Amino acid sequence: MSEQTRGRLTREGIRIHEAADFTGMHRAGALAATILDAIAEHVFVGQTTAAIDKVIEEMVEAAGARSATIGYKGYRHASCISVNHVVCHGIPGDKVLKDGDILNIDVTVIVDGWFGDTSRMYLAGSLSRKAERLIQVTHEALMTGIEAVRPGATFGDIGHAIQSYVEAQRMSVVRDFCGHGLGRVFHAPPNVLHYGRPGTGPRLEEGMFFTIEPMVNLGRPETKVLADDWTAVTRDKSLSAQFEHSIGVTSSGAEIFTLSPAGRFHPTWG
Ligand code: MF3
Ligand code: CO
Ligand code: CO
Repeated sequence: MSEQTRGRLTREGIRIHEAADFTGMHRAGALAATILDAIAEHVFVGQTTAAIDKVIEEMVEAAGARSATIGYKGYRHASCISVNHVVCHGIPGDKVLKDGDILNIDVTVIVDGWFGDTSRMYLAGSLSRKAERLIQVTHEALMTGIEAVRPGATFGDIGHAIQSYVEAQRMSVVRDFCGHGLGRVFHAPPNVLHYGRPGTGPRLEEGMFFTIEPMVNLGRPETKVLADDWTAVTRDKSLSAQFEHSIGVTSSGAEIFTLSPAGRFHPTWG
């Protein structure tokens, strides 16, 4: 059997990985998270998103790894950088960061064939109260979703946990983008929705690997994709935030492959 086909697939086409595969994912996730730790000092007022991306590309190369996004469906950068009302898939470019900008940096690396996919929020200059609350709620939404992960739970349980938490804070969950299975591939079944009803969707089993990556808007949930065919923005121009972890289902819960080795996850606290 080839390495690609080791393990088995569920009825829904979700791969069940073996114990040894967790080690591969842990290594890939740790590199992605280490890069997100190290990039923080490169985010400041006056910096361009292209310059940040360049540093990320160099860090991936210095680690002897590969970027999963360069060459992916014609994408040419080592990260997505999504500023303010950009929901996701912001393309690094000559945009100059200004005081108060909040940005998501999303990095996916390939280490020994395993994919580590993670994103966090960063800040240029000073943080407004409403941006601070949005970022706090979005991170808490991700962690609330991860807390729902255990064998026997369903993907709908994860989505419901995220949606009910976010909507109780009077913010909205983006429906147009979702998390995904990953492993030795970037995007695999299932679609991991960040909204839903308890008990619906495929059942979680030990050995499943996937991302949870909720996008939360201060305003309405609707998005649109710009003419560049990548950049997704909020239709109402409201501020949007996102956090992403790659995780594996264990016998009792979840292993988070992309936890920050430095214990960081947020621009100003934690
Ligand atoms: N990292 C993104 C995700 O979370 C995918 C980015 S694809 C790109 O799935 F081509 F836009 F980089
Ligand atoms: Co992802
Ligand atoms: Co990502």
